[in-house]
Amino acid sequence: MISGAKKNLQGIDTLFIKTYGCQMNEYDSSRMVDLMQQAYGLRLVVAPEEADVILMNTCSVREKAEEKVYSELGRYRKLKEKRPDMIIGVGGCVGQQEGERIQQRAPYVDIVFGPQTYHKLPEMVNRIRRERVHLSETDMPEIEKFDHLPRPHAEGVSGFVTIMEGCDKFCTFCVVPYTRGAEISRPVDDVLAECRQLLDAGVVEISLLGQNVNGYRGIGPDGEEWDFTMLIYAVAGLEGLRRLRFTTSHPMEMTPELAMAFGEIPQLMPYLHLPVQTGSDRLLRAMHRGHDRDTYFRIVDELRTHCPDLALSSDFIVGYPGETDEDFAQTMDLVRRVGFDSAFCFKYSPRPGTPAAKADDNVPEDVKDERLQTLLACMREQAHAAMQRQVGKVLDVLVEKPGKREGDMQGRTPDFKIVHFRGRPRQIGQIMPVRIVEAYGQSLRGELIVAE
Ligand code: SAH
Ligand code: SF4
Ligand code: F3S
Repeated sequence: MISGAKKNLQGIDTLFIKTYGCQMNEYDSSRMVDLMQQAYGLRLVVAPEEADVILMNTCSVREKAEEKVYSELGRYRKLKEKRPDMIIGVGGCVGQQEGERIQQRAPYVDIVFGPQTYHKLPEMVNRIRRERVHLSETDMPEIEKFDHLPRPHAEGVSGFVTIMEGCDKFCTFCVVPYTRGAEISRPVDDVLAECRQLLDAGVVEISLLGQNVNGYRGIGPDGEEWDFTMLIYAVAGLEGLRRLRFTTSHPMEMTPELAMAFGEIPQLMPYLHLPVQTGSDRLLRAMHRGHDRDTYFRIVDELRTHCPDLALSSDFIVGYPGETDEDFAQTMDLVRRVGFDSAFCFKYSPRPGTPAAKADDNVPEDVKDERLQTLLACMREQAHAAMQRQVGKVLDVLVEKPGKREGDMQGRTPDFKIVHFRGRPRQIGQIMPVRIVEAYGQSLRGELIVAE
């Protein structure tokens, strides 16, 4: 059983954790650290060679992500040859998908676990020390894990709270519903309690996380089901919260109330990641995205009516099976019509077990490459224009940390752009007006309006 008392196991003092994938994995990794620190008092180290326990939190959304896991594991194998007592664990979405196959391919891996079972880590580590067994734990019990996690620790001014797990959308190309399981929302009170803990620890900005956060349907304190908009009004009302964000949203779960919330809730920041994948109606249908391009345009119009400064970002896939030049032209048309501040663009990668993987991956690699480059070039242009539009404005910047240059501080604008300016470390956590003077590719340069 997991006990709250620190009981350092002999020879286990240090933990190294490597995280791949989405923000939900980042959140899970930070909770694994909380858990291992609470259970064993382990110290987190930044070099794997210093670690008694090495954990990898993995992603299997594209083939490349999965391959990285095995190449990284090769490095750890060498470390373990020198120190056979070292414990190596592979968690996350590759852990879930591959299960014991990982240990067949890499027998020096001691533990395999999935995104829903990491709360059992201390127990598994314990057993390995006692019995020297290999363990694999990839069942999907409801979301009991949240009931077993300690208080979150907060680093910095921003915190993350996972409000729902899994995905029921089953887009034809995507592995997430298989690795993370069914969509389950945490109860409203649990979400609020975790947000309060972060705020008490000094966080001023909270991001709510889930694969489809806006599909949230959790039990409220009144015993009724609350939707996402109700939840964000409640979170926004928490004392001490200055900024609220959320990711990722699905177009099918956008409601007029949520669009309106962007105009009504001052803490809700004008930035939305709303993946569309393609601009072709034919492919949107083939992918089972559940909406057409006109619906996407309508949603964007509605959002911009309530929040004219909203920065939009999105995800795109090029080279989905059967994608024609005409389909791709529709994607480019959508991008130009909407105008994004940023986007993640991917080449289609067949994932084992998904419906799309049964179709012929028939867009030639060089065509995928060419389309990706065309899309990226357009995105760079749009991102650059979005940055340039900020020059001359005075924006509220949440000061996050020292910048790379001596005497610089770094913060974020409401629409999530990075700003560097001359400032002082004691300004961390404050929201300060900054005049934007210059735009670079990935960041802005500004000057504090009020000196000192
Ligand atoms: N839940 C989010 C995103 C999940 S995965 C959503 O529905 O929008 C993040 C992104 O990875 C997806 O939006 C998609 O663009 C990309 N992706 C997922 N599976 C992929 C695959 N098989 N090949 C290429 N890109 C993929
Ligand atoms: Fe994957 Fe689609 Fe679910 Fe997003 S909504 S996680 S793309 S299945
Ligand atoms: Fe990757 Fe799993 Fe997140 S597949 S994108 S780590 S949900």
